[in-house]
Amino acid sequence: MADAIFLKNLWYVAGWSSNLAPGDRVGRTYLDEPVVLWRSLDGTAFALEDRCAHRAMPLSAGVVDNGSIRCPYHGLEFGGDGKCTRIPAQDRVPETARVRTYPIVEKQGLIWIWMGAADRADSALVPDYPIHENPAYAWRSAHFPVKGNWQLLIDNLMDLSHLPYIHANTIGGNPELHFKTKTQSEKLANGVRVVRHMPDSVPPPTYVDAAGFKGRIDRWQEIEFAPINIRIHTGACDAGTGAYEGNQESGFSMRGFHGITPETATTTHYFWSMATNILDNGIPDEVFEQTARTFREDQEVLELQQLRISQNPSAPMIDIASDVGGRHTRQLIAKLFREEAPAVSAQAI
Ligand code: FES
Ligand SMILES: [Fe+2]
Repeated sequence: MADAIFLKNLWYVAGWSSNLAPGDRVGRTYLDEPVVLWRSLDGTAFALEDRCAHRAMPLSAGVVDNGSIRCPYHGLEFGGDGKCTRIPAQDRVPETARVRTYPIVEKQGLIWIWMGAADRADSALVPDYPIHENPAYAWRSAHFPVKGNWQLLIDNLMDLSHLPYIHANTIGGNPELHFKTKTQSEKLANGVRVVRHMPDSVPPPTYVDAAGFKGRIDRWQEIEFAPINIRIHTGACDAGTGAYEGNQESGFSMRGFHGITPETATTTHYFWSMATNILDNGIPDEVFEQTARTFREDQEVLELQQLRISQNPSAPMIDIASDVGGRHTRQLIAKLFREEAPAVSAQAI
């Protein structure tokens, strides 16, 4: 049995609802499997294997026609249940004319997909992200293709000690501050939580631009991993105004959602949103733009790492103190792989 490289039995982000209008279709690879996401004209979204049952033409090259998607090659039509509904050249549609369907759920602006065994898909387990429905926040979303393995993206987000180096001009701040900051990582029942507090510190450029801080700030970074997505709440209050005593919402909050969906072993879909509680004219756009700039810097890092790793995948890597959150995350992921192992071996041929 080959080692599994993806966790199958999880809800993954397939895309943003706002990017799939009625009549749209898009072909994407998730976990090495080609999928076509499409939305019927009545507004229902579906996910099917992106390979026509006839001669393997990608259905995503076809068109959505009312409640079905039509292959562009010989015109076979498939419904959202994967069954062929029409073969233009003949009356009889055989039972075998069907493609695989993937369970999907749309919620809070996100389209979630289940890539594992369909009978194990439990829509009650779709992650909840109420920030997208909270009127105290404005949010924007994006989809970045990353030429790096999904685990590298998780490592990147769980260890923010790279901020002063990679993001010096945006959310960074001074390196000394980040060194002095203790990273506390806690294992949860099904997750990892990392907290870093930076009391009485100098605000970084993004914070000054968005919230107009004049003096020193009490800053926080709270990161939560729940397989396989990450939420990061960062922000600050004026120093001494209760940032660490439950008064965070009175200050400047940036809440990031990071949907990490493996595309292949060496590429990843990065679906992220950034929400902020400063709703003044133009601020949510500005925060989003600065965040996008920041994440593009990360994108570049992951790509360079992947190039080196691909040259010699088995070369060892060392851990340093700030990797504690990433290490806990890897331990949890390893446990999930072990739990999935029987299913993986049963599928392997
Ligand atoms: S390949 Fe799709 S209809 Fe022939
Ligand atoms: Fe980063």
